[in-house]
Amino acid sequence: MANDTNVTWHEHQVSRSRREALYGHKGCVIWFTGLSGSGKSTIANTLDHRLHERRIHSAVLDGDNVRHALNAGPGMLKENHGEAFAQRFGLGFSAIDREENIRRIGAVAQLFSEAGIITLTAFISPYRRDRDMVRQTMKEGEFIEVFVDTPIEICETRDPKGLYKKARAGEIKGFTGIDDPYEAPVSPELTLYAGEKNPETLADEVIEYLQVQGIVA
Ligand code: PPS
Repeated sequence: MANDTNVTWHEHQVSRSRREALYGHKGCVIWFTGLSGSGKSTIANTLDHRLHERRIHSAVLDGDNVRHALNAGPGMLKENHGEAFAQRFGLGFSAIDREENIRRIGAVAQLFSEAGIITLTAFISPYRRDRDMVRQTMKEGEFIEVFVDTPIEICETRDPKGLYKKARAGEIKGFTGIDDPYEAPVSPELTLYAGEKNPETLADEVIEYLQVQGIVA
């Protein structure tokens, strides 16, 4: 902890605005939040594809994928790093582990955004406080919270990975929406009704928002 005071912030030679001028659009973070199976990843990937087609620099950070490396769980870390390391740095699904998951993702997303990239994050991010903390690290208008509002009944019917079934059977404890909380956003920049509309239509709704905000042309 003592060494924290000896860490210095360096300004980069190529500024954010120079990158944005080169790319012809601004960097931002589009933060999709919603239940497992709500459609976050599908919409983020469809949007990523749409943006790419328009020659816009975008990237997706996705819950399951990020939990394979940067935010790997203890089980994945144990083999190469040992038990003590895995227990200390591995992330599971307790409230505090989810908080750290979101904090790290927020920091990475901010770096991407700073580099002029339209950064799409798809994490359940069930706690309002954690999402708000990420928002606070960004400049005005940079953090775009998108609530993927799909009723749990629909998510559970879809159950693409069979996780709701396992949670109902008690094989997974602390599953969001079943025996763990999901705190819906109070005033998100956008709400997408993914139980009613297809991913292409929803991706277009996000693009329209980006145009209105002057983030893309
Ligand atoms: S969180 O809450 O933001 O930290 O979660 P996230 O990093 O987005 O990871 C969610 C994916 O992990 C799988 N999974 C669980 N989800 C919720 N609760 C529990 N207990 C759980 N255990 C594993 C699940 O596949 C989630 O993926 P999505 O894409 O959301 O369905």
